Amino acid sequence: MVTNTDVLIEIKGLRTHFFSREGTLKALEDVNFRVHRREILGVIGESGCGKSVTAQSIMRIVPANGRIVAGEILLHRDDGVLDLAKLDPRGREIRAIRGAEISMVFQEPMTSFSPVYSVGNQIMEVVQLHQECGKEEARARTIEMLRRVGMPKAEQQVDAYPFTLSGGMRQRAMIAMALSCQPNLLIADEPTSAVDVTIQAQILELLADLQREMHMSIMMITHDLGVVAESSDNLLIMYLGRNVEYGPTETLFYEPKHPYTQGLLSSIPKLGMLGNRDLEPITGAVPSLYEIPDGCAFHPRCPHFMKGVCDAKVPPLTDLDATHTVRCWLYTDESTRGGAE
Ligand SMILES: Nc1ncnc2c1ncn2[C@@H]1O[C@H](COP(=O)(O)OP(=O)(O)OP(=O)(O)O)[C@@H](O)[C@H]1O
Ligand SMILES: [Mg+2]
Repeated sequence: MVTNTDVLIEIKGLRTHFFSREGTLKALEDVNFRVHRREILGVIGESGCGKSVTAQSIMRIVPANGRIVAGEILLHRDDGVLDLAKLDPRGREIRAIRGAEISMVFQEPMTSFSPVYSVGNQIMEVVQLHQECGKEEARARTIEMLRRVGMPKAEQQVDAYPFTLSGGMRQRAMIAMALSCQPNLLIADEPTSAVDVTIQAQILELLADLQREMHMSIMMITHDLGVVAESSDNLLIMYLGRNVEYGPTETLFYEPKHPYTQGLLSSIPKLGMLGNRDLEPITGAVPSLYEIPDGCAFHPRCPHFMKGVCDAKVPPLTDLDATHTVRCWLYTDESTRGGAE
């Protein structure tokens, strides 16, 4: 049973916008969730819903044309709570946290490695930066880490250049780099997208094993619900910059409440049901963030659309029980509905 003291990081009312001549792009409008200690949280949503921007906001690596405009990112530590949203993104404090307390595995492994240094040198650099140890010790730790992520002949591969490794091995090397400082939180942004399905499964299994071994928390970002069904404890469903449903994986699988979650679930092929049942993809496409629909942003695609309610006001978050939250007018009191804001 997870209690509040088990919270590692808490995101409240997070809003991150990008600014350009075309206008303001509201990538995150109101994101709220928690990551508990030693849990795997799956973060799900279609392309463009703000999953990567959420990760970038936590790491404080939002590209220069964007900014956190509101909200809190509360990192719970033994000696208190630190709001990462308030830190200078180039300051010492966040740099000490990045790669040490929180680290990230990116969608495309080649962006994490420089092509001109060996994989081992780059991991050693991270180890030396955050842990006080000499070169030899750092090299030994790097080899050990490469071994733990299943890199064959780690003593030799430590000197390999990134482009000489296969996609799957590069991904393993990247995970080794992200884990080399034993972070409390690993953010894995679609760690599986660049490799084939068999390797995807192996990498996910590896991450789940490492999570148990190293007692860390993982935020696993993916647009594929099926990918995290087995491994995640809780799920966060995002739609157009807002969290729309959050709760234990099992609850969301068996009792999904938000019509968007229901739609995502019904588009997963189920074992043994192939051929018997048509997949029901969600109709319509994700609208542009420059033209976010009024009210609940999902209403133009929603089979339960209620005119004058869903297109009038953004639904509030409703706690269905202590662990399950949904943002949908179907689950609110009649009294909270009513006219436009
Ligand atoms: N640097 C940027 N400048 C302007 N807009 C950006 C920038 N980075 C992201 N965005 C926009 O923010 C929105 C959210 O993007 P994000 O990358 O978080 O989506 P995502 O959920 O990770 O999607 P995917 O599944 O495709 O990775 C998108 O509309 C995207 O175009
Ligand atoms: Mg992304």
